[in-house]
Amino acid sequence: MVSTLLPAAAGFALGLQSLESERRIEALPVEGTLPPWLSGTLLRNGPARFEVGRDNYRHWFDGLAMLHRFTFAAGGVSYANRFLRSKRFAAAERAGHIVGGEFGTVAQLTFADRLRAPFGNGLTDNANVNIVPFRDGYLALTETPGPVAFDGETLETRGTAKYDDALSAPLMTAHTHHDPARRATFNVVIEMGRKSRYSVVRIPDGTLRRTVIASIAVDEPAYLHAFSTTARYVIIAEYPLVVRPLDLLFGRKPFIENYRWKPDRATRFHVVDKDTGASAGVYETAAFFAFHHINAYDDGAAVVIDICAYDDHAIISDFTLDRLRAGAGVSRPSVRRYRLIPGRSAAEVETISEVSLELPRVAPLREAGPYRFAYGFAGAAERPEFSDRIVKVDLASGSVSSWSQTRSYPGEPVFVARPGGTDEDDGVLLSVVLDAAAGSSYVVVLDARTLEECARAAVPHHIPFGFHGIFR
Ligand code: CO
Repeated sequence: MVSTLLPAAAGFALGLQSLESERRIEALPVEGTLPPWLSGTLLRNGPARFEVGRDNYRHWFDGLAMLHRFTFAAGGVSYANRFLRSKRFAAAERAGHIVGGEFGTVAQLTFADRLRAPFGNGLTDNANVNIVPFRDGYLALTETPGPVAFDGETLETRGTAKYDDALSAPLMTAHTHHDPARRATFNVVIEMGRKSRYSVVRIPDGTLRRTVIASIAVDEPAYLHAFSTTARYVIIAEYPLVVRPLDLLFGRKPFIENYRWKPDRATRFHVVDKDTGASAGVYETAAFFAFHHINAYDDGAAVVIDICAYDDHAIISDFTLDRLRAGAGVSRPSVRRYRLIPGRSAAEVETISEVSLELPRVAPLREAGPYRFAYGFAGAAERPEFSDRIVKVDLASGSVSSWSQTRSYPGEPVFVARPGGTDEDDGVLLSVVLDAAAGSSYVVVLDARTLEECARAAVPHHIPFGFHGIFR
């Protein structure tokens, strides 16, 4: 097993090793009892190849995308995994080396490569971050506007899609927000150039046509991984991690290393009306950084936003592969609630819990509305080597419950509601867990009320740590 090659103290580092095999398994061995009502598919996305030829990717966010499918049906679990055949993946396979820049890696291109491919070979379509439903299949997303379509059953790649509009923006978040009432998806794109701006876009269901509903001009755009929505508003948190657009265009550094942390600038919240595009306020608070908003809602008196907030941007370099694999430790976020009260320019802030919740999820029916529970993974220690438990935070009381196993490292927990259930936490959490002692991974099913384990189903290999997924 690969794990015997690794230092015993760094068992989680197996989750940052490449997985080459692609498999289809009709029946995984199941331990425990699956809820009889659990029926559907958990799709996961994440990096799975961290080198091409002799080239190594430098950051966790850079590895080539692989899709995983766990299908729950008739008391059993089937599994499949496949690399996403993005243009970037195919070009790397052909060339035998890394052919373009990623989040934290710059390609070492030859002179001939540069002539063929100025600007570091253009925008990546290595869509390893998230998955959304689209028509009769799915789109894999990353932070560029090149979604990659794939089949939800075979996981076969159908190709990189193009947006059906004239919007020219190199960046677009992978954390879309679907609004069932408006039959549209909202996202934020960042236009870069002599005039840069954040633009809120609306995409009608079943289309790839982005309509700009609001634009916010900015000289030095911030790095934005996600945003949030309420029933009425889109909320952008603008952290003081900012870039000069020319540095991105002409620089030779990895993408994210062009950004500068300027903590004497505040973090700003921009609130935009979903229908009119009008600004409903700009609010300031002391500098902080985040990847993920947990959820947001209007409570009548304020817009309430919960965020996995870091004091600064150190977490980005904490996630470089050599530091992670060496167990150098990662910064801890906390669960913070920001209240944006109309007529005031300062956001109110409260730390709800010091637990280091990341990859947060909430019950889908509570998204963009009032809610009580957040789920995620977390690390236990002051400066954890990696996240080693699944946690549930009661946002009303601040209390935290958790599930963990020795030398086991879970990923994002996805909440699946029990059909007919009315309580917010009546359902299960599904998470892919690396069992470092066994050298392999399994999907675990936890009762979301108690975090007690119902069942697990193991695959014969390790699954590298991924990011996001969905259940349908
Ligand atoms: Co994310």
